[in-house]
Amino acid sequence: MEKKITVIKGDGIGPEIVTEAQKVLDKVGEKFGHKFIYTDILMGGCSIDKYGEPLTDEAVETARNSDAVLLGAIGGNTSTSPWYKLAPNLRPEAGLLKIRKELGLFANLRPAVLYDELRNACPLKDEIIGDGFDMMIMRELTGGLYFGDRKTEVVDGLETAVDTLTYNENEIRRIAKRGFDIAMKRRKKVTSVDKANVLDSSRLWRKIVNEVAEDYPEVELEHMLVDNCAMQLVRDPKQFDVILTENMFGDILSDEAAMVSGSLGMLASASLNDTKFGMYEPSHGSAPDIAGQDKANPIATILSASMLLRFSFDMDKEADAVDSAVKKVLEEGYRTGDIMSEGMKLVGCKAMGTLIADAV
Ligand code: IPM
Ligand code: MG
Repeated sequence: MEKKITVIKGDGIGPEIVTEAQKVLDKVGEKFGHKFIYTDILMGGCSIDKYGEPLTDEAVETARNSDAVLLGAIGGNTSTSPWYKLAPNLRPEAGLLKIRKELGLFANLRPAVLYDELRNACPLKDEIIGDGFDMMIMRELTGGLYFGDRKTEVVDGLETAVDTLTYNENEIRRIAKRGFDIAMKRRKKVTSVDKANVLDSSRLWRKIVNEVAEDYPEVELEHMLVDNCAMQLVRDPKQFDVILTENMFGDILSDEAAMVSGSLGMLASASLNDTKFGMYEPSHGSAPDIAGQDKANPIATILSASMLLRFSFDMDKEADAVDSAVKKVLEEGYRTGDIMSEGMKLVGCKAMGTLIADAV
């Protein structure tokens, strides 16, 4: 097969980790007889430096006309980088929000898995970890607070800021269906997270999720308030299979879940629309402090490339080959600095990419 992949290397460690993921994809292409044609576009700080905006319309069109997007990471140090002196709509993150909205990427899948090999990196006690955990956060990505009207103005002599949180029933229904669909392929449990004791948007969320649940009698549904969920994630993460939630809650809970797994450098993510098209990126950020030092962990990006193969190209055996290659290299004891523990072999970003590509 021949497939077009738009590549967004981005800022910080983005270029190094994406290069390693492309190394692995090329190996997959060679081994399974596919051709991946890459087109690079700029997004984030690098686009601001070149074009004065974090994502150009041309770049969006390039992405739209491809089969999938592979993204590294964007943004810099928010307290020191000149990008954060710009107006909010010109900062690196605005590029990310724009591409999600323009391409209709409403369904964000963020797995949080405890890798057996990395048990030592998990900050939780052994009795809490038990036999490990494996959850999928299904985050709504193009609605809610991050896309509502906002303004800052002076009201009665006081500087006043407003952000609006809006959801309509269709936006809730389509993400809820995705959540239940994925639960059907997993352990058949959905925890829908909201703040229905306070927010109208959450009460509508709960009502629509209940309606959707009627079409999935095999799936066990529970509702959980977001503050309780934040607590349960550290108290007993094993209880979760699919966490279904709105944009901001998903943003916060997915960072928490990633940290709890102790494997932030290992976690991939997918942002999907109604078609096979998707954008795939690691769950971690651009880590400007270690950029360009060959220290970054490319595994989350490599596993994102694997999700790309599986979800957008229906290349299941190719994706399995990548996942097994990652597992094999970890079993052989190779580690980047972030997941290093005693007795293991420390390698850099490039070496890790080469080891995984060779293992495919
Ligand atoms: C994420 C990030 C983004 C978000 C930021 C950079 C806008 O935190 O992908 O989780 O909040 O969605
Ligand atoms: Mg986030």
